[in-house]
Amino acid sequence: MKIAIASDHGGFRLKAYIIEYLKKSGIEYKDFGAYDESSCDYPDYAEPVAKAVVAKEYDFGILICGTGIGIGIAANKIPGVRAALCHDTFSAHATREHNDANILTMGERIVGPGLAIDIVDTFLRTKFEGDRHKRRIDKITELEKNIVNNEWGKTK
Ligand code: RB5
Repeated sequence: MKIAIASDHGGFRLKAYIIEYLKKSGIEYKDFGAYDESSCDYPDYAEPVAKAVVAKEYDFGILICGTGIGIGIAANKIPGVRAALCHDTFSAHATREHNDANILTMGERIVGPGLAIDIVDTFLRTKFEGDRHKRRIDKITELEKNIVNNEWGKTK
């Protein structure tokens, strides 16, 4: 399994903690920055991870900012991304099972490191259930296609 991980300054310390966990667990990863705690802009870190995950260069992305919200909003602008904000393990497995989420987002200012690791672990090992959930994901993909093709007004 290969993971693309990034944060802004607000998520820098939690990212470092998660990277230690990935190393210990023998999980391959690439750190897309930020590389220090200087103030920076979360879209700059969401974009390369989101594009690499959509290109299937990585199995999953992990994005962290202060809240997990801004970096997730930015990532979800890239067609094919299903970034899910999870601060509990129920959300982490539910979003994999039902939404086939491909990026996990968290907020360093919200979740402690111990819980964050449990969330990462749950997210990475839970499989998508497919079936009726696949039909719903396909509809999301269809929405994205309409937007990309500039067919905003398209209705059924
Ligand atoms: C940075 O101060 C903070 O706004 C950012 O990390 C994030 O929480 C935005 O959603």
